[in-house]
Amino acid sequence: MSDKIIVFDTTLRDGEQVPGCQLNTVEKIEVAKALESLGVDVIEAGFPISSPGDFQSVVAISKAVSNPVICGLTRAIEKDIEVAAEALQYAKRKRIHTGIGTSPYHIKYKLNSTPDKILERAVAAVKYAKRFVEDVEFYAEDAGRSDNKYLAKVVEAVIAAGATVVNIPDTTGYCLPHEFGNKILYLMENVSNVHKAVISTHCHNDLGMATANTIEGVLNGARQVEVTLNGIGERAGNTSLEEVVMILKSHKDLPVHTDINTKQIYKTSRLVSSLMNMPVQPNKAIVGRNAFAHSSGIHQDGVLKNRENYEIINPKDVGIKESSIDLTARSGRAALKYRLKNLGYSFAKKEIDKIYDRFLALADKKKEIKDDDLRALIGKVAGKGDKAIKLELLQVVCGKSAVPMATVRLKINDEIISSTASGNGPIDAAFTAVKQIIKRKVHLEEFLIQAITRGSDDLGKVHVQIENRGKLYYGFSASTDIISGAVEAFVDAISKII
Ligand code: KIV
Ligand code: ZN
Repeated sequence: MSDKIIVFDTTLRDGEQVPGCQLNTVEKIEVAKALESLGVDVIEAGFPISSPGDFQSVVAISKAVSNPVICGLTRAIEKDIEVAAEALQYAKRKRIHTGIGTSPYHIKYKLNSTPDKILERAVAAVKYAKRFVEDVEFYAEDAGRSDNKYLAKVVEAVIAAGATVVNIPDTTGYCLPHEFGNKILYLMENVSNVHKAVISTHCHNDLGMATANTIEGVLNGARQVEVTLNGIGERAGNTSLEEVVMILKSHKDLPVHTDINTKQIYKTSRLVSSLMNMPVQPNKAIVGRNAFAHSSGIHQDGVLKNRENYEIINPKDVGIKESSIDLTARSGRAALKYRLKNLGYSFAKKEIDKIYDRFLALADKKKEIKDDDLRALIGKVAGKGDKAIKLELLQVVCGKSAVPMATVRLKINDEIISSTASGNGPIDAAFTAVKQIIKRKVHLEEFLIQAITRGSDDLGKVHVQIENRGKLYYGFSASTDIISGAVEAFVDAISKII
C-alpha cells in the first residue's frame, strides 16, 4: 500500500492574500465546501488575528465544513494563538499553524533577533498552542534559505514541544528542486524525533519551480503538501493543487497517492477563478483552456488515431468532458474531417480536398476557424435547420438606485423577437431577456471579462461558457461596451445550440 500524501489547501489563506482576490464570508464558505467535496485533508481557512472579517470566516467555515481539518494561521505570538483558538472553537477537527522565520535574513533583518532567541520563541509558541489544540503545525518561515543544521535543530525542538506537523516553506521560491529535496532528506536523516511528526512542503513559485520542489520534497520524505487551486498566492503564487495531484496520479510507479477526487478538479478550479476574479492562464497545466486543446496538424492526426499519442491525462479524469480539436492554419485534413463530422457533415475525399483549400485560405486570415466558419465554408450558412441568430438591439437601464432592466431584440432566422427583463444588474437582466426569447434551459458555467490593455477606453474581451443538456458551448465577443460585449458573447454561445 502506498503512502498517503496529506493535501493541505491554503487557497483561502495564502491564495486569498493576493490583491483583488479577497472573498466575503459567504464566498469563502462556498469555496470551503467545494474543497471538502474535492477531498482535501486540511483547509487553511485564514489568519484569524489579521482582521475581524478573517476571524468570522474561520468561525463560519469551522461550522460549515466537517470532514477536513480546519486550520488557522498565527505568528509565534500568544495573542495570535488565543484568537486562532477562539476562531476554531466550532471546528470538528482543528489545527493551529504557528511559526517564525528561521533564515539569516528573517532572524536579523525582519525579527532583529538571534538564532537562539528564535529557537526559544518557536518552542514557546508550539507549547502555548498545545494548551488549546492537540494538532499543532509549526512553520519555519523562509526555510528554503535557512541553514540546514540550524533548521534541523529547530525542527527537533518543536517536535519535542508537541508539533504534529512541521512545515518547511520555500517562502521566496528560491530553491532548486534538488536543493529542496536534499533539505527534506537532511531533516529526515538528522532530526532524531522526525518520525513523531509529518514533514510538510510549502513552496512558492517565484522562479516557476514550486511544483518541482514540492514533488522533490515528497520523493525525499515529506508527507504533506501545501497547495492552492490554480496556484494562486503571494507574488507568483503557491504550488498548484491540480499539478501535484495529477503528477502523483499519473506516475503510478511512485509509492504515494492522494485522496483527491480528481474529477472535481476542473469545476473547483473554475469556481475559485470566478469568485476570486483571477482568470486562469489559457496554457495553465491541467486546468487552462488549452490544456486539452490540440491545434497542430501532426498532433491532431495523432490524437484522433489514439488519444494517448499526445495526451498523458484523460481529460475526464479532471472533470473535463473531452479534449478539443481547434482548427487553425496548421490543422490538417484529419482535423477538418473530424470537426465537420461533429457538425453532422461527411464528404468524399475529393470534396474534402476542395473544402480544405478554402479552409486554409480562410485560416490564414483568421486565427481560429469556428463551427460557423465551417458552415460558411461548406455553403450551409443559415440554411434550413441552421441558425442565424443576431443581437439587433440592446437597451439597458442601470445606475445607482435604479432597478436594472434590459430590452433585447434578437433576429432568429429572419424573425424579430423582443423581450424585457429585470435583474441584479444590467448583464443579468439582459441574459434573462435573451433566455426568455430562446426558451431553452441554459446554465452559465463561465463568464470572463478581460481588458486587453488598461485604459478606460479599452476593448473588453468577453468569454462565456454555457451548458445545455449536458453539453458545453463557448461564446466570445470583444467590444468597448462591456454590457453589449457580454450579451453578444452570450448570444454567440446560444447560437451554437440552436
Ligand atoms: O510562505 C510562507 O512561508 C508562509 C507561511 C506563513 C506558512 O505562507
Ligand atoms: Zn506561503
